[in-house]
Amino acid sequence: MHDYSVTKVAITREVSPALADCELTHLTRVPIDVDAARAQHRAYEQALADAGYTIERLSCGADMPDAVFVEDIAVVFDELAIITRPGAESRRSETPTVAAVLERYRPLHFVCAPATLDGGDVLSVGKRVFVGVSRRTNAEAVAQMRRILAPHGYTVREVAVRGCLHLKSAVTALADDLLLLNEEWAPPAAFSEFDLVSVHPNEPSAANALRLDDRIIFPMAFPGTAARLGQRGLRVVGVDASELAKAEGAVTCCSLLIHDSQRRDR
Ligand code: GLY
Repeated sequence: MHDYSVTKVAITREVSPALADCELTHLTRVPIDVDAARAQHRAYEQALADAGYTIERLSCGADMPDAVFVEDIAVVFDELAIITRPGAESRRSETPTVAAVLERYRPLHFVCAPATLDGGDVLSVGKRVFVGVSRRTNAEAVAQMRRILAPHGYTVREVAVRGCLHLKSAVTALADDLLLLNEEWAPPAAFSEFDLVSVHPNEPSAANALRLDDRIIFPMAFPGTAARLGQRGLRVVGVDASELAKAEGAVTCCSLLIHDSQRRDR
């Protein structure tokens, strides 16, 4: 006889003292309170810990303003992890430390020039992988991901993104068959096999939700959309991500989640 235990790890990265110098694409720069951002980030980590994750927090100096958005640096699958080549040159120095920690969990594959890829542009739902072509991610990255993932049974589809930073600014998964979407930013036709929940019309930035096994971590700033998730029977855990949002980050951006099953013989 045997059963399985699941180890859940969340890799996070501390908020840089230089967060206010972050990359901005669609937002106007406004002052950021780094201490408040750190407090919000700790609360986010606590929400992950409450859901059973062990937090592995990487350190970060003033030379990496955007490094808290660790999701952009890697994409983790059950079989392997892909280390990205971020579209913003200022972020490429973030990759070695993330690769060093991830190689303890997964065989690593690397996206190479001329490809550029941000993890925020990758939405995985089971064996379906959607890659947003954006200002950060190009078609060559889609081709490289397809070559890496096809032997493991994944299909990789390209999706055009408009009006927002990343694909996951526009669409995220709430369940295996349910997505949360801002249809102004990503075309619903690309996701025709899913049931879709639209963001509340007053909350265009609300499509980024972090799906865990039994709950959705979601920004408190979007109550209209949170109510729609509740109506679908989802358990919503609200977090205050308002300071990190000024740096054009959201809830999926701040962690890399790793699930490992281990068989135990009885
Ligand atoms: N500030 C988040 C990013 O641009 O990567």
